[in-house]
Amino acid sequence: MSETSIGADDAVATVRAWEALDSRGTPTLGCSVVLAGGAAGRAIVPSGASTGSHDARERRDGGQSWDGLGVAGAVRVVIEEIGPALAGVPAREVDAVLESWDPSTDLAELGVHAALGVSVAAHRARARAAGVPLYELLAGGLPHRLPTPMVNVVSGGAHAGGAVDIQDVLVMPLRAGSFRTAIEWAWRVRRQAAALAERRGLVTTLVADEGGLGLQLPSNAAALGLVTEAIEAAGLEPGHDAALAVDVAANQLWDGSSYRLAAESRRLDAAGLIDELAGWVAKYPVVSIEDPLHDQDWDGWAEATRRLRGTQLVGDDLFSTAADRVAEAARRGVGTSVLIKPNQRGILSRAAETVATARRLGYQVVVSARSGDTEDHWLADLAVGWRADQIKVGSTTRSERTAKWNRLLEIEASCAPDLRFVT
Ligand code: PGA
Ligand code: ZN
Repeated sequence: MSETSIGADDAVATVRAWEALDSRGTPTLGCSVVLAGGAAGRAIVPSGASTGSHDARERRDGGQSWDGLGVAGAVRVVIEEIGPALAGVPAREVDAVLESWDPSTDLAELGVHAALGVSVAAHRARARAAGVPLYELLAGGLPHRLPTPMVNVVSGGAHAGGAVDIQDVLVMPLRAGSFRTAIEWAWRVRRQAAALAERRGLVTTLVADEGGLGLQLPSNAAALGLVTEAIEAAGLEPGHDAALAVDVAANQLWDGSSYRLAAESRRLDAAGLIDELAGWVAKYPVVSIEDPLHDQDWDGWAEATRRLRGTQLVGDDLFSTAADRVAEAARRGVGTSVLIKPNQRGILSRAAETVATARRLGYQVVVSARSGDTEDHWLADLAVGWRADQIKVGSTTRSERTAKWNRLLEIEASCAPDLRFVT
């Protein structure tokens, strides 16, 4: 095959898009990219509920169709504008075209659905054309690496009708030795947590957006206590074999003047919330806290980073997967870990730049799904290809969650023994 025809095979031939539904039943966008040589890739775009003020924008239709939540406008942009503009463009240049199309950091012009759908589908088509899995294309020759799972056990906040205030209490296996064992441990902890809650007369049949138990508990600390007990009941040593991670999702608690813990009828200022978190770390085996304060409070975050030294502090809304915000945090000595949600940026190359910046500045990388996710599992390949330290996709129930765990289990089974598990 001549050089020219290899190039031609790699060029975008057809781009399709359609409306789809995410796991909350909210409309989203599906997309496929077919290259001239016949290789194809597809993707469905997820969506969050606890979004930050710096996230890239979703463009929804408004009007009557789908009660205003439709993305027919984004579908039309992909079919009528992006597709024709990409025709004949080498697949590896798709992200660059999208970036120059909409250089704004919030993607106000293209919107997340159109940009991320096309970006992920084009990456998959490239991998298919190269005859490699997506994670291998993204790894760029570096050895494979599987992330530690953070598994949602008890859900609260915007994902569980405010059952407790904090959004997630997760279990993190620390010494599992393999990804498969890590998932089995987390599965055991979730089962034990459900059994303990049931014995206490709590309703456990209804699960939250990410598959966690949405329990009516008397306090946030009670959720931490329950998951700690569940670790023990699973035959594991809390703090040694498995530990707790918390996503406070503090943006959701902040009302403009204080943090409202509705489940406990309390209001706290930043110093009070940091005291509360320090108390949890002292009492329970908490090794990681996400979004302890809202995303505008750099000073509060700096104080939390000093007070909670030794605990991983993950920025989700704070960073919005934006490289410049990670650089700002490094200058201010804020946080230790960056949550990577690709649709906070909307184009994979931008999220990849944030991963690289995080690494360069000494931050851990945690790849995350969204609360409104789909059966598509491209995120698992991103986590392996980008060599993430941890991955957070929800619980061990609900197919949009297990799709990612199942893909990681498949990757581990097909790559061993040349695969390193992170902890
Ligand atoms: P979201 O939640 O997808 O609703 O933003 C996930 C998270 O906060 O980590
Ligand atoms: Zn979060």
